[in-house]
Amino acid sequence: MDKLVIKGGKRLKGEVAVSGSKNALLPIMAATLLTDEPCRIKGVPKLRDTMTMIKILRSLGKAVEFRDADILVKSTKRVSTVADYKLVSTMRASFCVLGPLLAKYKKCKVSLPGGCVIGLRPVDLHLKGIKALNARIDIEGGYVKVSAARLLGNHIYLGGSFGSSVLATANIMMAATFAQGVTEIESAACEPEIVDLARFLIKMGAKIKGYGTPLIQIKGLKHLHGAEHSIIPDRIEAGTFMIAALITRGEIKLKNVSWQHFGAVLDKLKEMGAGIYKKDKAITIKFNGPLKSGNITTLPYPGFPTDMQAQMMSLMSITQGVSIITEKVYPDRFMHIAELNRMGAHIQRQGPHAIISGVRQLSGADVMASDLRASASLILAGLAAEGRTSVSRIYHLERGYDKLDEKLIMLGADIHREKE
Ligand code: EPZ
Repeated sequence: MDKLVIKGGKRLKGEVAVSGSKNALLPIMAATLLTDEPCRIKGVPKLRDTMTMIKILRSLGKAVEFRDADILVKSTKRVSTVADYKLVSTMRASFCVLGPLLAKYKKCKVSLPGGCVIGLRPVDLHLKGIKALNARIDIEGGYVKVSAARLLGNHIYLGGSFGSSVLATANIMMAATFAQGVTEIESAACEPEIVDLARFLIKMGAKIKGYGTPLIQIKGLKHLHGAEHSIIPDRIEAGTFMIAALITRGEIKLKNVSWQHFGAVLDKLKEMGAGIYKKDKAITIKFNGPLKSGNITTLPYPGFPTDMQAQMMSLMSITQGVSIITEKVYPDRFMHIAELNRMGAHIQRQGPHAIISGVRQLSGADVMASDLRASASLILAGLAAEGRTSVSRIYHLERGYDKLDEKLIMLGADIHREKE
């Protein structure tokens, strides 16, 4: 396994093009199961999770080519409706093949994804939606078996105790494209990635309204055709670079971004004193002097994204004053606190709250990544820390960031890989 070794203290300056969004790509790749016709997906990031979803589609009988940044999905004569534990357990997002497989083949068997370090990752809302569409659900041997003679449209309230669910919304929206009549999803996720999925489904011929709002309406059809689609930019990768600019007291211009996706993040960074300049499809983030402490609460979109929480914590750990982070989406998503404290941060956890007392300087240390966004937060801390930081287990990072170390090196960071 590799580790990243960072020599901190370099100010990052320059431009970076943001890659396509992992969290838009994965459900869109699952949606290609809804048609036998070829689909082309463009602007695809080269990630571990991209490869995992390709393996899953191939295991379900699709022929998948990934060349440059394009994925071409075609059907073969072989079809399987079983998504195997070995693959699903490595990437929870693969559970979103359930909806399209049920819609297309009226039956399927998908491994329950299991939990991970950021939380239990239940699927009760997915199953509530599937059941509401007149499907039969059996759980045995760690798998969900679903079947339906006919899927029937329904009104489904899909909000849970932590608010809306992104992938449950994706699963039900895809299943409903072939359900007889109209399906309404109330308390639907409003994330830009759901909007991108809806746009892809509409290109396939689906009839969907209200996407991007809490009430989505899907009119069931009998058939969807192939389509071509370019993935939206990754707003979490972009946000990670925004923090990289500020934590190193530098200035980074982000190209290929939709600034509408960053409402809560830009609002908070501006409140803390960051320089933010928007022009066309680019955003420049500039360190304009010592930042002020701030408080954030993570919420479903358009609230502050939980996927930016760990990165923000790194910035707050060297921001003067006391900052408070309240994690309302994954209350246990705090594995990075212990590692940041090993670098000299002063962070206390109180249940779903993290209290961060800013210190003048972090010091480099050997730290270990535990999950995707924690990996990014440790790298950001290493960029600012005095001395050498090594971040091990960076396979977590490679799941969701496309050549992050290379992009940071282009911006002036002193980073190199070593074998663990
Ligand atoms: C998506 O996961 C993202 N993954 C996650 O990004 C992101 O953190 C999350 O949405 C929240 O924004 C992808 O899109 C591939 P949820 P998802 O269902 O859909 C609870 C990353 O770092 N819940 O919106 O699985 C759940 O426990 C990853 O890129 C239920 O209770 O998340 C959580 O507390 C990490 N029952 C809350 O809802 C359910 O059936 C939101 O989860 C489903 C979810």
